[in-house]
Amino acid sequence: EKGGHDYFMLKEIQEQPTAVADTLLGHFTGGKIVLDEQRLSDQELRDVDKVFVVACGSAYHSGLLAKYAIEHWTRLPVEVELASEFRYRDPVLDRSTLVVAISQSGETADTLEAVRHAKEQKARVLAVCNTNGAQIPREADAVLYTRAGPEIGVASTKAFLAQVTANFLVGLALAQARGTKYPDEVAREYADLEAMPALVERVLESVEPVRALARELASSPTVLFLGRHVGYPVALEGALKLKELAYMHAEGFAAGELKHGPIALIEDGLPVIVVMPSPKGRAVLHSKLLSNIREIQARGARTVVIAEEGDEAVRPFADHLIEIPAAPTLFQPLLSTVPLQVFAAEVAQTRGYDVDKPRNLAKSVTVE
Ligand code: M6R
Repeated sequence: EKGGHDYFMLKEIQEQPTAVADTLLGHFTGGKIVLDEQRLSDQELRDVDKVFVVACGSAYHSGLLAKYAIEHWTRLPVEVELASEFRYRDPVLDRSTLVVAISQSGETADTLEAVRHAKEQKARVLAVCNTNGAQIPREADAVLYTRAGPEIGVASTKAFLAQVTANFLVGLALAQARGTKYPDEVAREYADLEAMPALVERVLESVEPVRALARELASSPTVLFLGRHVGYPVALEGALKLKELAYMHAEGFAAGELKHGPIALIEDGLPVIVVMPSPKGRAVLHSKLLSNIREIQARGARTVVIAEEGDEAVRPFADHLIEIPAAPTLFQPLLSTVPLQVFAAEVAQTRGYDVDKPRNLAKSVTVE
């Protein structure tokens, strides 16, 4: 049942191309993005003037990624908040607010209570969920199911990639309803998304060097992760995976924050994993990251760089280079996250831990 793997998680990492493809399947029909359940009228969707995304853990990181896409495509303001914070605050919501609740299990206590908190203030709720008929989708006005299949490993991998994918569909559905994207533009974005599973597959085919590197770094006291723009939530996700699986101290930072504190942590030999944006995307993002890597390398950091194939400019600054295929900027996280999952799993195994059942953690957090 583990498909020849020692752990479910390793099988689930391999299943990611299918998880992404299945999540997309059938959601673009008749030239339109369609959700699974929609108890909201087209008019109600058009009337949305603000989006809140609420979730916990990895689902929250997928929400952070959603903000970049939804704001870019719809020009709607998007706030992303940990469900555990949102539910005890007094957020400004009304019937034109859309609250997107993301949860693999659909049973996470804080996310469920955030949904109830939102509904009390008449906000509309859209659930992104991997479990049919779970409580969160039952209480939502609209639902988009991620079709990752059952995820047994406590660490989210294929469900995370499926959430990132589903969030893009939510963004496109809103852009379509609001008319901020022409139908042919929506079709083009969807086609680009459909090309992603094959690229995820290519990343999976080339992760052996990542495993070797993980074994080399397995006794490191800490690992830092840096990213900018969509690379920032990827850095947070990479750090979370390492903490929960390998019980290793790890922190993800926005690269632009380096000089505001984290650079003081850099010392000789400290591994820093950097997520590079595409050199074909916004030039400013790429050049800023390059100078960040230069700075940390000059201070002795051991740089591990995830960069697009053919990104020659980054080579001199990468002590270890992990190449991923070219992809549209917003969709790159579907690729750059994968080596980080593999890295964390391999460090954990090298340290002798059970990657399916990390200590102290439960798959579904149904109590606070
Ligand atoms: O079922 P949910 O998506 O609501 O779960 C949220 C978090 O508990 C979950 O993502 C957790 O952070 C994972 N262990 C991360 O790998």
